[in-house]
Amino acid sequence: MTDSDLIPGRGAGPGDGGPSAPAALSGGCPAHRADPAGGGFPAAGAVRLGGLEYQQTPSELYRTLRREHGPVAPVLLDGDVPAWLVLGYAEVSHVTTHDELFARDSRRWNQWPSIPADWPLMPFVGHQPSVLFTEGAEHQRRAGVITQALEGVDQFELAQWCREIAQRLIDAFAGSGRAELMAAYAHALPMRAAVRMCGMPAGGEDTEDLVTDLRISLDAREGDDPVAAYGRVQERIQRLVREKRAAPGPDVTSRMLGHSAGLTDVQIVQDLISVIAAAQQPTGNWIGNALRLMLTDDRFALNVSGGRLSVGQALNEVLWLDTPTQNFIGRWAVRDTRLGGRTIRAGDCLVLGLAAANTDPQIWPEGHVGAENSAHLSFGNGEHRCPYPAPLLADCVARTAIETLLERLPDVVLAVEPEELTWRPSIWMRGLTSLPVRFTPVAD
Ligand code: HEM
Repeated sequence: MTDSDLIPGRGAGPGDGGPSAPAALSGGCPAHRADPAGGGFPAAGAVRLGGLEYQQTPSELYRTLRREHGPVAPVLLDGDVPAWLVLGYAEVSHVTTHDELFARDSRRWNQWPSIPADWPLMPFVGHQPSVLFTEGAEHQRRAGVITQALEGVDQFELAQWCREIAQRLIDAFAGSGRAELMAAYAHALPMRAAVRMCGMPAGGEDTEDLVTDLRISLDAREGDDPVAAYGRVQERIQRLVREKRAAPGPDVTSRMLGHSAGLTDVQIVQDLISVIAAAQQPTGNWIGNALRLMLTDDRFALNVSGGRLSVGQALNEVLWLDTPTQNFIGRWAVRDTRLGGRTIRAGDCLVLGLAAANTDPQIWPEGHVGAENSAHLSFGNGEHRCPYPAPLLADCVARTAIETLLERLPDVVLAVEPEELTWRPSIWMRGLTSLPVRFTPVAD
């Protein structure tokens, strides 16, 4: 993966070259294919997303949906709320690069009258005044502030922080010879790295409380109170913003505050929470999915003891085959239009099927999936794409996490059979419920 592959608007569209690009376009303009089911919404045969069988093997769901519905499938979200799942590479590229047709402000959704206040997807869909839901010039202003603040992160320094965090996390389980790496490592590390980038000191009690509350609000377990935890996250980030206003430092928060766009403190709190939340779950799952690949696939298992394929290759392969954000909600149609032969009505919701698009047979006609290049859609695409240089920072965090683990525990192996590993019950995120490993215990 090269830096230029990850610059927004480059390397992720069918027009950007790479072996897949001409095939992606071979189906013609995504807006003008024949309508497989005559159009209309909610469409006949809509498929309920989220069944357990699909959580374990989503690629089968995508294959079935493509066969039965084509590149844009009618689906039912929680509570049987209708939406479109965009499965085709060309179609996802089209949606994400035509903001005048498919935009981010969810307030235009035509289903709001039937959505209850406690709808489970509300945290992802309910409009918030953050960068995520802004459009046009306001979005460019907000995203520009984030980009400039993230550009100030020195990647050598970030790698050094990640090594320190990794060492502390590994110290906690190294002596036992066993660990569950998802909770104790893969998710724990990027959260601490993100908080550190934003200017909170490493290891302090205050920082650890924030890390715990972020974990609960993003990934609540039984007995957790995510609403209360989110309230504490807001309070702590508000305090961080006040502290950095009074005493700026070399960190993301201070750079956002000092930016000439002049965002208000309320906007900066919103966008900082978006940055930390956006950084955490996908990077944690990226680390977990790549570790799983390295521990279960002989091509990579060799690497643990100094073999052929690198950590970078595992990280890239995972973005094609097991991408952390497998579906992203989403975009809302600005006006009536056509997509993949379907009639899309103004206000319809479109879910970006990033995992399905990455494995679209239109771009992999030989049935071979997984390339050296970075033309996948795993970081989204277009104006709202994961903002540069966030993918580079995430790559730095993930690579350092895996390399440090393999250096400290060179004989690490899975503690269960590969078939016993299970995936989180989420149609949105692709991540393991747990990754139990064993290794020779290491003394302090
Ligand atoms: C340092 C780590 C990261 C940071 C700071 C970060 C930050 C962000 C932010 C602020 C956005 C919102 C952009 C906008 O609406 O304008 C975003 C979007 C997104 N990010 Fe990231 N992110 C990180 C890592 C990742 C990783 C590891 C993945 C997956 C491999 C990922 C996938 C996405 C996707 C799919 C979107 C939505 C794109 C779209 O709407 O087209 N991010 N990210």
